[in-house]
Amino acid sequence: MRAASEGVREGEVGVYGPPIPGQAHDKRWGPSYVLNDGTNHPMIGFGTYKAAGAQGPSAADIVGDALAVGYQFLDCAQFYGNEKEVGKAISRSEWFDRDDLYLASKVWTDAIYEGRAAVRKQIDATLKALRTDRLDLYLVHWPVPGKHVDAYLELQDAVKAGKITSIGVSNYAAEDVDELLDHPGVYITPAVNQIELNPFLYRPKTLQYMADKGIVVQAYRALRDGKAFEDPTVLRVAAKHGKTAAQVMGAWCLAKGAVYMPKSTKKARMVENADVVSFQLDGDDLAALDALTTEDALAAFKALYEKCVVRDTPLPEDDPGIKRDITAG
Ligand SMILES: NC(=O)c1ccc[n+]([C@@H]2O[C@H](COP(=O)([O-])OP(=O)(O)OC[C@H]3O[C@@H](n4cnc5c(N)ncnc54)[C@H](OP(=O)(O)O)[C@@H]3O)[C@@H](O)[C@H]2O)c1
Repeated sequence: MRAASEGVREGEVGVYGPPIPGQAHDKRWGPSYVLNDGTNHPMIGFGTYKAAGAQGPSAADIVGDALAVGYQFLDCAQFYGNEKEVGKAISRSEWFDRDDLYLASKVWTDAIYEGRAAVRKQIDATLKALRTDRLDLYLVHWPVPGKHVDAYLELQDAVKAGKITSIGVSNYAAEDVDELLDHPGVYITPAVNQIELNPFLYRPKTLQYMADKGIVVQAYRALRDGKAFEDPTVLRVAAKHGKTAAQVMGAWCLAKGAVYMPKSTKKARMVENADVVSFQLDGDDLAALDALTTEDALAAFKALYEKCVVRDTPLPEDDPGIKRDITAG
């Protein structure tokens, strides 16, 4: 990666390396996916969930490190409770102007449940916290039963008002996207769906469904929350390429056509994690990694989905609106 001290120069292309054959290349942030609204989306970003613990450096310091390392896409959320700190890091950053950054966030279930006015209020709160007048991307964090479509309608209005460029969803099963797209008021197809995706939770049917609808998948927990680095298959593939386990998981994610947005509180790991386009996994690597997902993992994912769609809302866990038969794989 470019040394942070070099900053961004006019006309320079991204920090993540040279153009990738067959991929879009944004003049600001390099390798990109083209979203269904025609805008470019960086292929690599930095996750800000738990960007600071109870002790140690603040989230502003950690996100400041990520910006200095060269991450230009920050994945934020109301739920993470640190948007003000992220805004502080952005305002202190000497590396990037606002237009060099790709700022994304999401509205949490409490506001989604409350309704459109609460969603509008939260969009304005995020804009203020991040010290900007425009978000590149904003998502409905969970498909709260009976409520999420209204939240999305409010996002459409925010696009019209010029507050947000692209909108999308997160944690949506194929069936949730169907429900959204079937609503007569929805005229913007979600640009992205942010879902958990890694070799231990590979969901090919869901990926295919999103691709068919023109929806780019952003992968969260692409590093499996740091809990897969001892896996023998991941380590074998890593040794074969002379890379680390984290880099193999990142490369797998990009090979699936997903956005990769790892989080680390440690600067050396931030540098390590971003080095994922300098090598390519082959068919054998991908087949071995794809096979790490078990039926138990898919069942656990389904159970978590059913809990999380009503989390922090008054809806009970046996609410009849909760979809029990989603496409898990
Ligand atoms: N939409 C959603 O519902 C949702 C849910 C979860 C996450 N997300 C988003 O996705 C982002 C990424 O997911 P995540 O933060 O949950 O998990 P993750 O990126 O898969 O993993 C983060 C964990 O891995 C460790 N780690 C990172 N790089 C490492 C390396 N090179 N070697 C060893 N350990 C390493 C980190 O520890 P250290 O910090 O100590 O390095 C941390 O414990 C989040 O930050 C958030 O923006 C979205």
